[in-house]
Amino acid sequence: MERTFVLAKPDAVQRGLIGEIIKRLEQRGLKLVAAKFLQVSTDLAEQHYAIHKGKPFYEGLIRYICSAPVMAMVWEGPQAVTAVRQTMGATRPTEAAPGTIRHDFGLEVGRNLTHASDSPENAQAEISLWFKPEEMVDWKQSNETWIS
Ligand code: PPS
Repeated sequence: MERTFVLAKPDAVQRGLIGEIIKRLEQRGLKLVAAKFLQVSTDLAEQHYAIHKGKPFYEGLIRYICSAPVMAMVWEGPQAVTAVRQTMGATRPTEAAPGTIRHDFGLEVGRNLTHASDSPENAQAEISLWFKPEEMVDWKQSNETWIS
């Protein structure tokens, strides 16, 4: 089983789309193992997006992610990193496939609704940045025990 980090970004929160994002990840068969609703500090935003420091969009990205609350989540499942990114769609909503979250609800890269880790290594780093180990909930989905 793999875990990945997901954010419902400020535009998703402002537009009342947290439930839609969670619904799609649940429908995909992924399991929610941690979640919290928070206002992101500049310090946390800068740590999360440190790799993009210096890029032309960096300052705007930091302002955007701190502009309203976010829903931070950890999802678990087989190849969760790939599965979540498929469900989100391409970073640029105009390049995202129909049926993905970013296609179905977005148009602008600067308002692309979600963030999801792009590798298992980055997922581990992002989960550690946003969550304490004790905030992970260990629970069994019925389909995990259906056939033993
Ligand atoms: S890069 O340079 O290819 O690594 O960048 P990319 O993977 O396309 O995007 C990295 C994150 O920056 C966000 N982004 C932007 N935000 C605001 N405005 C502009 N123009 C912009 N371009 C890229 C993009 O959504 C990525 O954020 P996350 O949260 O990781 O999806």
